[in-house]
Amino acid sequence: MKRCVVLTGAGVSAESGISTFRDADGLWEGHDVMEVASPQGWRDNMELVLEFYNARRRQLKEVKPNAAHHAIVDLESTYDTIVVTQNVDNLHEVAGSSEVLHLHGELLKVRSETDESLVLPWHDDVHVGDMADDGGQLRPHIVWFGEAVPMIERAATACSTADIAIIIGTSMQVYPAAGLASCLPPHCELYYVDPRPTINYELQQASNLQVIEGTAGEEVPRLVQRLLATSR
Ligand code: APR
Repeated sequence: MKRCVVLTGAGVSAESGISTFRDADGLWEGHDVMEVASPQGWRDNMELVLEFYNARRRQLKEVKPNAAHHAIVDLESTYDTIVVTQNVDNLHEVAGSSEVLHLHGELLKVRSETDESLVLPWHDDVHVGDMADDGGQLRPHIVWFGEAVPMIERAATACSTADIAIIIGTSMQVYPAAGLASCLPPHCELYYVDPRPTINYELQQASNLQVIEGTAGEEVPRLVQRLLATSR
């Protein structure tokens, strides 16, 4: 079976009603990203950071996967597919994707501030004073700016054996995720679906890049249909 890697960013969830990060005002739901997505922001105002992610977690109960998330699941009928997402939402899982690797963490998990291996599933709000078993304050299981990205090696390995790679809805600005195209083998077909694509250094170097300018909800189902038809 041919292998397919799908790298997604905030744009794949935009049509489900979840805001992207770098559009228009450069704010994330009204906040400077460093205020809510950095160790310094956490130290400065734990309550604000917890409430920010509580709101994002509550929003997950209101949103649904869109046509792009569903089409990505359809790839599994023909391709050995792995989704590598920068998103912290769970829409790929809700749509039914079987293998999803979250590079930047997951809203529906929390962990101890003092032991990063102490990770728990979590669906409710988190408050200052909510502790893990080791006595550490619970914090969102999110990779903040300046923190290590533990899943990047697994993502790079998946890319290194891909026959087809599809990048969807990401501004390709945040490393190391934005550099994953450099791990693809030369024979790999590479598609990039985004209404405002950014061709970063790694994409410029990639062989076989096809840019599809358009929204995920419209273009991903079309591309997947094409990939399923040509594999027969
Ligand atoms: N369909 C596809 N792409 C879209 C759509 C849509 N309907 N709407 C917007 N986009 C595209 C934008 O053109 C942009 O290129 O989605 C991209 C969103 O870019 P960012 O907001 O920068 O999000 P992303 O690339 O996922 O950010 C990477 O940065 O803030 C951190 O950790 C956070 O995971 C995030 C990372």
